[in-house]
Amino acid sequence: MNGAPVLQVRVTAKVCEADDICSFELLPVEGELPPFEAGAHIDVHVRDGLVRQYSLCSRPHERHSYQIGVLREPASRGGSMAMHDEIEVGHVVTIGAPKNHFPLQAAARSLLFAGGIGVTPILAMAEALSAAGADFEMHYSARTPERAAFRARIAKSPFAGRVHFHYDSGDAAQKLDALRSLGAPEPGTHIYVCGPGGYIDHVLASASALGWPPAQVHREYFSAAPVDAGGDAPFDVRLASSGQVFKIPVGRTVVEVLAENGIDIPVSCEQGVCGTCLMRVLDGVPEHRDVYLTDEERAANDQFTPCCSRSKSALLLLDL
Ligand code: FES
Repeated sequence: MNGAPVLQVRVTAKVCEADDICSFELLPVEGELPPFEAGAHIDVHVRDGLVRQYSLCSRPHERHSYQIGVLREPASRGGSMAMHDEIEVGHVVTIGAPKNHFPLQAAARSLLFAGGIGVTPILAMAEALSAAGADFEMHYSARTPERAAFRARIAKSPFAGRVHFHYDSGDAAQKLDALRSLGAPEPGTHIYVCGPGGYIDHVLASASALGWPPAQVHREYFSAAPVDAGGDAPFDVRLASSGQVFKIPVGRTVVEVLAENGIDIPVSCEQGVCGTCLMRVLDGVPEHRDVYLTDEERAANDQFTPCCSRSKSALLLLDL
C-alpha cells in the first residue's frame, strides 16, 4: 500500500445493523474531518499491511463523524473479518481522506439501486438528495429483512416513503422487477447501482435492454469477479520516460514487478476496484481485469489498472 494515511479517528460506536453487518462511527482524534460528498469511500488501515475501502454512509452534510457499514465476509481476503473481530469502540484507526469515484450528477430525478451491503453509498446519496429537496426513488434488495441494514434509520428518515424494500425471501410481488423499476429512459434521470457483482450486472443489463444511455447509468463494484488465469502468458512493459523494459511473468502483476525494480505505483484495493493505480497506456492492448473502468473506457485501451490487468499484446508502452 502506498499513499499517505491522513488522519486518526476513534471508533465511538459499533452497532450491529443486520445479520453480519456492523456500522462503525468514527470521530477525529483531533481537528476536523474533511468534507465528503455522497458516494465517497475511505481507506481504512485495519491493521499493519491490511487496508480496505469502505463507503461512507453518514449524512454528507454532517461533519462531526463518519459512518461506514461492513459486511462480514468469511470468503473474502480478511479485511471485513478483522473489522468485525478486532476493531472495537475506543480503538484509534488510521484512515485516508474521502475519495469519490461514484458521485451524484446534476439530474432532474435519480433512481438508486442498492443490493445488500451496497446500501452504504446509496444511503448517503439518499440523504444528500433528500437534504437538497431533489426527486429520487430508492430500491433496496436483500436476501431477508434480517440482512437489510439501516432499516430503522430509513424508516425514521424524511425519505422513508421513497424507499422500496425487496427481499429474495417472501412473496413474488415485492421482489425487485428491475425492468419495471427502471422504466423507459428519461433524459433528465440518472441511475446509480451498488451491490454484489451479480446484482449490479442484472440492473445494468436491464437498463441497457430498456435503452438507457450508458452516460446516465453509474455503478460501483465492491470487489472484482474471480478471473480464470489459465490462459495467462508473460508480456513486457516499456516505460516511455526511460525506455526500460520489464518482463511480467505469469502470476505476477505489473505493480509487483515495477515495485521490485524501485518503481512504486500508488495502490489501494489491488484488485481493480478503486482506480488508484490507473495508468495511461500509449501503445499495446491491455487485457482489462478491473471493474473500475466503464465499457467505453475499456474499449479505448488507452489506460489500465496495473494492479490486476495484463496485456493481450506482447508489449505495453506505459506513460511512466
Ligand atoms: Fe485499486 Fe488498482 S489499486 S484498481
